[in-house]
Amino acid sequence: VRVAVVFGGRNSEHAVSLMGAGSVLDVIDRSKYEVIPIGIAQDGRWVLASGTQSYAIESGRLPVVDDSGTALALPGDSGTLVALEPGEIPQALGRVDVVFPLLHGPYGEDGTIQGLLELAGVRYVGSGVLASAVGMDKAYMKLVLHAAGLPVGPFVVVRDRDWRIDRGRVLKEIEELGWPVFVKPARAGSSQGISKAHDPESLEAAIELAREHDPKVLVEAAIVGREVECAVLESLDDAAPEASVPGEVLVEGGQEFYDFEAKYHPGQMALQAPADIPAEVAETLRAMAVRAFEALGCEGLSRVDFFYTPSGEVLVNEINTMPGFTSTSVAPQLWAATGLPYAGLVDRLIQLALR
Ligand code: DAL
Ligand code: MG
Repeated sequence: VRVAVVFGGRNSEHAVSLMGAGSVLDVIDRSKYEVIPIGIAQDGRWVLASGTQSYAIESGRLPVVDDSGTALALPGDSGTLVALEPGEIPQALGRVDVVFPLLHGPYGEDGTIQGLLELAGVRYVGSGVLASAVGMDKAYMKLVLHAAGLPVGPFVVVRDRDWRIDRGRVLKEIEELGWPVFVKPARAGSSQGISKAHDPESLEAAIELAREHDPKVLVEAAIVGREVECAVLESLDDAAPEASVPGEVLVEGGQEFYDFEAKYHPGQMALQAPADIPAEVAETLRAMAVRAFEALGCEGLSRVDFFYTPSGEVLVNEINTMPGFTSTSVAPQLWAATGLPYAGLVDRLIQLALR
């Protein structure tokens, strides 16, 4: 079975994707799978990864796709990849049975590459076009979760035109959420472009910051609560998707929230899995995680993030259709705590895609 592991990508989670790919390439069973590692450079070019490609943070520097390798054409008819050497006739790399798009964020986790692979007739790991697109856009995600009866916090969507033309009305709507608020690019990940605004004065700068990532912005009422996450995995038979044990994210240090630093620099966050919460709350979270997965029509895997408030209320913060996927990321750790170790998880995802 030939598996193309695709990583990098044209967005601000490029490095996060590389770290996940490094872990997958380490554990994937090479007696079972022939692996073709493919990087998407920051400018969008596809390259066959060389042996010297780095997948880790080294001396504080985030990894990037090394684009000096063989350039590739996009998958052609019936899953054939084509290598492009300048001045040479394209040389076929042959059929690929399945693609593992280990990509986060726009042009990766948002349905675009999924659409490309659908057109090319190649099977792939994870959610399809619609679930990926809905999961990427926090505004649509919340609409769909809410429509499915799942509790989400109050929010205001700030569209580009509203912000430019009708700012006074937008600011008034946001005031009604109360302070502080979280300001987020609608379509980004790993907390990039997110900040907390404590008053009207800091709000405009926060919106401008989010707009550097996406002209569509989401402003949410800040929820006071513990951050508890649950991973969901499809079953290989026709059984319902399964939820992992819930885990609690504990952010060390003095961050205002669970930001990019805390997510990817060692020692700043700890995951307690299973979370130290009452058994009935854990069961509620697991059931809600599966409902969220099904509400979007997800496939393969997802991670659903919750707030568990001091009054015992549970709210869905978001769902990620391609959650951080290094061997020490939250979703893999949750599965390990549930009895499915990382290598088994990688294998399960590929087998799900091949069904
Ligand atoms: N967007 C990052 C990868 C996550 O959700 O884990
Ligand atoms: Mg996310």
